[in-house]
Amino acid sequence: MDIAKWQAIEDILRDVLHTYNYLEIRTPIFEDTELFARSMGQTSDVVQKQMLNLCSQRRDDDGHLKLSGQSLRPENTASVVRSYIQQNLERTEGLSKFYYMGPMFRGERPQKGRLRQFHQVGVEAIGSQAQSPYLDAEVIALAVTILESLGIKDFTVKINSLGSAEDKENFSAWLREQIKPHLSKLGAEDQNRFERNVFRVLDSKNKDTRAVVDSLEIESAALSDESQRYFQQVLAALRSLNIHFEVDPKLVRGLDYYTHTVFEITSTALGSQDALGAGGRYNNLVKQLGGPDVGAVGFALGLERIILALPEDLDVIGVTPDVYIIALDEQSFPKAWQLLGLLRNESISCDIGYKIAPMKRQMRQADKSKAEMVIILGEDELRKGVVTVKDMQEGTQEEVPVKDNDYSVLIDTIVERC
Ligand code: HAM
Repeated sequence: MDIAKWQAIEDILRDVLHTYNYLEIRTPIFEDTELFARSMGQTSDVVQKQMLNLCSQRRDDDGHLKLSGQSLRPENTASVVRSYIQQNLERTEGLSKFYYMGPMFRGERPQKGRLRQFHQVGVEAIGSQAQSPYLDAEVIALAVTILESLGIKDFTVKINSLGSAEDKENFSAWLREQIKPHLSKLGAEDQNRFERNVFRVLDSKNKDTRAVVDSLEIESAALSDESQRYFQQVLAALRSLNIHFEVDPKLVRGLDYYTHTVFEITSTALGSQDALGAGGRYNNLVKQLGGPDVGAVGFALGLERIILALPEDLDVIGVTPDVYIIALDEQSFPKAWQLLGLLRNESISCDIGYKIAPMKRQMRQADKSKAEMVIILGEDELRKGVVTVKDMQEGTQEEVPVKDNDYSVLIDTIVERC
């Protein structure tokens, strides 16, 4: 993968995230397995099938081997919440707005857009002031702005509300009633899921199960008046930001911690793994993991999938030096070397041809570096007390005076052009 392209994308993402006043948080790559199981849910596919466990052994005081369970992080929401609780942030912050970018790990069968190590950019807004429909709308708008800032236009935002914990219970009971008569038609694994967590049946990829789910008439989840009002406020806030969305009553998401708003952003540019990102509100998770009773909402986008969906003509130029210095002989090299240091001290990015070689060969290297300017020092230049500055775009060149090792005129000339 082209790292310069990744870095250019990451720079754009950071700019957008800072515009929305989200600050970076970095959490460990691995955490206690328990944390992931408790947050995403024992019945979720991620916990059931995709956790990459680290098994560390140590002996307890009686000499018995103890296995301690840690796992590579399959996602980052649980880790951010753990960190929020540990740092006691609710004491000092009404609202903590975090973002992260980094590797996540899931033991899946790799295919296009589905990797065992992949990268997410995500946000989590947590705190007593996070209980606002405007924040649900803000994170969705932020995900959309991120995609648009990268020139991605072909995507759909699907949104639904699962309501409060109580609404979820009611919805789950209603779903079980609807699916029960068709139980024998579900895939074998989904018959088991029906018993353990009926929401998992709704996002099953099994063909037979999908046929049953598609035939279900689900107008909306079983929302209380209050939850319905909250959902409508989220939708109104999105409309006022001109964010286009589709309400999808069958969208439930595969992780247990969600309450109220859930959303997914899909793209037809991706093939079968069509989710660019997803997220939602998780009002009970902080409390459930031992923290205060505060609300939270967030999302994560898959960076590899974003890269697959980028328009081909996106102009993400990697890092190139402003200046490339060429010394044509041994006598000129110490001066070229000195100049390299002086330019770098002025924060001008520059590089040098470390090996003395004929002009033609060194110019080829300079060309390859894509530097805007090339500075040439050779016997002629030393004799005349000048250096040659070549503008690579214009194809022009001029001699700039360097008298008694005083490079100030040259540095001013370069700074002006960069
Ligand atoms: P998720 O839906 O599991 O949600 O993952 C979010 C995104 O990560 C997916 O839409 C996809 O783009 C990317 N992704 C997931 N698995 C893979 C994979 N194996 N290979 C490549 N990309 C992948 C979460 O992770 C939640 N933590 C999102 C969230 C944040 N909800 C609230 N806050």
